[in-house]
Order: sequence, then structure tokens, then C-alpha cells
Amino acid sequence: MSYTEWNPEWATGHETIDDQHKRLIAAVNSLFDAQKSGKGRNEVENTMNFLVEYTIKHFNEEQKIQEETEYPLYPEHKQIHEDFKNTAYELFNTLHRDGPTDELISHICLTIGRWVINHIKSEDFKLAAHIRSREQ
Ligand code: FEO
Repeated sequence: MSYTEWNPEWATGHETIDDQHKRLIAAVNSLFDAQKSGKGRNEVENTMNFLVEYTIKHFNEEQKIQEETEYPLYPEHKQIHEDFKNTAYELFNTLHRDGPTDELISHICLTIGRWVINHIKSEDFKLAAHIRSREQ
């Protein structure tokens, strides 16, 4: 059972960014599945660790694209990434402190999943439009 399925409407049209977004959604699903299938605490925490690390990797690579394409909204976009990194760290710390419960894992998946989707549809779509405008 998956938490959420990738929706083609979330595609920005930039291959690298879209591939990474799909992996992010898949990582949210992996965390949800690890809890639902009764994996132990270590495995659930490892899955969450991957999700947080992959989020940071994606942010770094997307920011590099923004620098390379002289994206004018880079400072604001980077700050939004930084703010969400703090949220992700807090969620990880809560999981590490309290241990996985169905309620906490659902909260984490909802918080990260909803943020990623909303962020794609607002900030990342703006970035993709900027990249396309440079290619014309
Ligand atoms: Fe795809 Fe701005 O994160």
C-alpha cells in the first residue's frame, strides 16, 4: 500500500528535477510502508534518514541548477528549502526520541508529502518556467 502516487500534473518538464521529485515521493511511500508492514524501529528510522538525506541532496542539486541558470528568485527559493530542512530535522528528531507510531509516521508522511507537492506546484514550477524561457 502506498501513501501517495506520483501525479503527472506535478511534472515540471525538467528531467532531472522531475526524476528527483519522483524519488522523493517514493521515499515518503517507503517510510509509510515500513511502518505499515511492521518493520522494526531501526528500519523505520533508516527509511526516514534516507528521506531526509535525499531531500537535502535534491535541494542542493536544484539550487545548483538555479545558480547555473541565473535564476532571479534563487535567494528566496533557497531560504524556503532551508526552512523546510529544519522542519525535516525536527520530524526526524521527534521520531528518534519517541519511536515510530502509526500516528507519528502518518503525520510525517502528510507533512513532507504535502509540502513537497505544494512546493513543486508553486516554487519549482516557477523555476521550470525560467529554465524554459532561457532555452527559447
Ligand atoms: Fe524541488 Fe525547490 O525543490
